[in-house]
Amino acid sequence: MSENISVLGLGLMGSALAESLLAAGHRVTVWNRSPDKAEPLVAKGATRAATPAQAVGASELVIVCVLDYPAVREVLEDAPLRGRVVVNLTTGRPVEARETATWAAGRGADYLDGGIMAVPYMIAKPGALILYSGSRTAYDRHEEVLAVMAEPRYVDPDPGMAPLLDLAMLTGMYGQIAGFLAAAALVTSAKYPLTEFTGTLLVPWLNAMAASEPATAAAIESGDHRTEVSNLEINRVGMDNLIRTFREQGVRPDLLIPMKTILDQRVARGLGHEGLSGLVEELRIG
Ligand SMILES: NC(=O)c1ccc[n+]([C@@H]2O[C@H](COP(=O)([O-])OP(=O)(O)OC[C@H]3O[C@@H](n4cnc5c(N)ncnc54)[C@H](OP(=O)(O)O)[C@@H]3O)[C@@H](O)[C@H]2O)c1
Repeated sequence: MSENISVLGLGLMGSALAESLLAAGHRVTVWNRSPDKAEPLVAKGATRAATPAQAVGASELVIVCVLDYPAVREVLEDAPLRGRVVVNLTTGRPVEARETATWAAGRGADYLDGGIMAVPYMIAKPGALILYSGSRTAYDRHEEVLAVMAEPRYVDPDPGMAPLLDLAMLTGMYGQIAGFLAAAALVTSAKYPLTEFTGTLLVPWLNAMAASEPATAAAIESGDHRTEVSNLEINRVGMDNLIRTFREQGVRPDLLIPMKTILDQRVARGLGHEGLSGLVEELRIG
């Protein structure tokens, strides 16, 4: 069924979202601060709104995808939100999502926060995922439309949960990138072909290691950090070797040092017999 949907914010991501909704046959109203970015979408059948208020007035479902949360508030400030469902697909912090949900509720709108786990060219293609949190009623009512843009996954009534999980996934990604960059510096210091190392050795190794993460997650959840795989003392010696080798090869070990610091702290507490899962306890503040 064709629905009225408004999309505010037509940067790279907002344009991809709007285009996917148009392609699925929905009636899409678009607005962007710089009006020229609406043109390609208007050419494909979208209706251009002159103001955010006009865009919000055109549809019950209002999708916002701009730079940051202050921009979201700026855009929606004077819009008639009562009775609307605001789906905020702007990346931000959990606390900002909660504040925005309260702000929207104060104006009579239902609110869903979304974390986009995709880049623009992946939108509406297999592999694209959007995490949603906030109003379950709004999610259930609009799930079919949301599924056009990417596989939708509702995670929690707390509007801050989708951004938190989004940031947690990015944290995992940056950790993996940091590991890759450090390994690349080491491998190239020895003039070994990096693409060969990456394709034939590193990626299969990382996949095998990633397969053990659910078991580590279970240990963290249970608080039982005993191990029969590899304890912290062994890992501490291993990381010493790594860091010394980096220096001997003329490579900065900076990306490895934070992990080594946490490891040393845990071992200094007399917990060298534990597995790596115990390190998460050291990361908790207070
Ligand atoms: N691109 C990605 O791969 C990706 C992936 C996941 C999530 N996201 C998230 O999606 C959001 C948009 O990203 P993008 O890639 O589309 O960025 P972008 O291409 O730089 O577009 C930014 C958009 O925000 C608008 N904007 C900025 N400040 C504004 C303000 N004060 N008032 C009104 N509009 C304002 C811009 O309007 P103008 O055109 O007038 O400048 C533009 O429409 C971000 O939160 C980003 O983190 C992006």
